[in-house]
Amino acid sequence: MIFETHAHLNDPAFDEDREHLILGLPEKGIEAVMNVGCCLESSGDCIALAEKYPFVYASVGSHPDSADEVNEAVIEKYRQMAGHPKVLAIGEIGLDYYYETIPREIQQKAFRMQMELAKELDMPVIVHERNAHDDGMRIVKEFPGVTGVFHCYSGSAEMARQLVNMGWYIGFTGVLTFKNARKAVETAESIPLERIVLETDCPFMAPEPFRGKRNDPGYLYRMAERLAEIRGISVEEVHAVTTDNAKKLYRLG
Ligand code: NI
Repeated sequence: MIFETHAHLNDPAFDEDREHLILGLPEKGIEAVMNVGCCLESSGDCIALAEKYPFVYASVGSHPDSADEVNEAVIEKYRQMAGHPKVLAIGEIGLDYYYETIPREIQQKAFRMQMELAKELDMPVIVHERNAHDDGMRIVKEFPGVTGVFHCYSGSAEMARQLVNMGWYIGFTGVLTFKNARKAVETAESIPLERIVLETDCPFMAPEPFRGKRNDPGYLYRMAERLAEIRGISVEEVHAVTTDNAKKLYRLG
């Protein structure tokens, strides 16, 4: 059984078959799903979904693309939502300088406000960081007591080793299975297995040989197969260790 550490099952891409898909996940080997919020509205949807299915959990937070909605009133709403028993993390939060739909200063302010909330509530965070490695590292270092996962990791192996030493987990998506995934593979080879978690980031980023299709947690076995290949260990060990890591990351049981 594997722990899916980053999904967006509330996405409209699942409107046609969401219930059927989620109910079928246990028989596809999925033990638990962290369904991740991206803005105030989707965070509410994540909680509603988590209330419906015992193995689905939720996080609340504003993605860098929604950074402009973050203010004290929104933080107060997240503070209240975080008290829900199925809400296990603050996220996804962070910086995205690839699309940069929102100006950098606004992204940084929203990131800091939500890191501050995680610190206050003593909760793990789910960080989205793309093309913003230096600023991302600088801001997480301002909050030494706060850790969590750098999801869909895209930094260098050296940066991952630094994060691991600071107590962070590194999340790998289907990118690991892509032919041009040199950096992700190098990172997955060189950090301790005890710090790696697996995710789909569905409906995006479907792994090979499903690249381009709608992704869903049922494809997570491909990331596990690829990680087993990279590390030279059994798929069973990858399932067991990464699931254990995910439970530690989200402080479950
Ligand atoms: Ni995501």
